[in-house]
Amino acid sequence: MVDESTATLSNVAAEPGASKPDPILAADGVRRSFGGLNAVDVDHLELQRGAITALIGPNGAGKTTLFNVLTGFDRPSAGNWSFAGTELRGMAAHRVARLGMVRTFQLTKALARLTVLENLQLAATNQRGEGMFASLVRPLWRGQENRYRELADELLARFRLDHLREAHAGTLSGGQRKLLELARALMTRPRMLMLDEPMAGVNPALAQSLLEHITSLRDEGMTVCFVEHDMDMVMTTSDWVVCLAEGSVIAEGPPRAIGANPAVIDAYLGKHHDEPSSPEQPS
Ligand SMILES: Nc1ncnc2c1ncn2[C@@H]1O[C@H](COP(=O)(O)OP(=O)(O)OP(=O)(O)O)[C@@H](O)[C@H]1O
Ligand SMILES: [Mg+2]
Repeated sequence: MVDESTATLSNVAAEPGASKPDPILAADGVRRSFGGLNAVDVDHLELQRGAITALIGPNGAGKTTLFNVLTGFDRPSAGNWSFAGTELRGMAAHRVARLGMVRTFQLTKALARLTVLENLQLAATNQRGEGMFASLVRPLWRGQENRYRELADELLARFRLDHLREAHAGTLSGGQRKLLELARALMTRPRMLMLDEPMAGVNPALAQSLLEHITSLRDEGMTVCFVEHDMDMVMTTSDWVVCLAEGSVIAEGPPRAIGANPAVIDAYLGKHHDEPSSPEQPS
């Protein structure tokens, strides 16, 4: 069976800024500079609803900065973008999350001294910005607490973390922490997940199961955008690939074609890869 989002992407032009048949996110002229450096400078970008888009690019390309801006964790220097039809410019991160776009971080934000379960419950209230409000309205909070507890149990079972429910997050392995990070993001039942290097530092077996989780979330209708450096993982998991270099989208296309794209090769090897290499220096 051919997945619908994949099938519709097959007619999309493999070029930077390409229009998608059903974009859930569309960005225009989004720029973020730090001093004189344009960390992000994206003319136009659309992400297809219900698809897995991989965001690739060399270190310092601006991937994390773009995630920060799109999800309201950083303010752009210029630009506009919309998510599911709502303009997001100037919107705080917790309001973006409430609309259904939720991100994870390159370095996990799990709180070491809280248990796995407490981390999940906190994520639900934090992402939604309900902490203060909920603590003032206790009866409402009680009802929500039960709902969050049920969802947390469901996610712990899904990610096979149930036996670690009462363990302090600080005692988990790197891979288990990445799973917890994904579970934390899912506590708000998002429509779109933005995952910044979800597989980094995860052992191959756990990385494989993370990839399978991401694919099944897509199959359940979720939109996913993930940053990843490992091209094998990009190939096996994504429906579409966007390559960023020096802040701009320099290539887009289906995963099988992107590795051979000259602009992508240039970005990874540097502009001077065709020059003869200098003689080896004695070390
Ligand atoms: N807060 C900041 N202040 C100044 N410069 C920053 C800041 N955040 C990022 N940068 C710079 O912006 C550029 C893009 O950084 P960013 O972290 O977005 O890259 P990245 O693509 O996520 O890289 P990596 O693959 O290493 O995670 C880099 O040159 C970085 O040094
Ligand atoms: Mg990064």
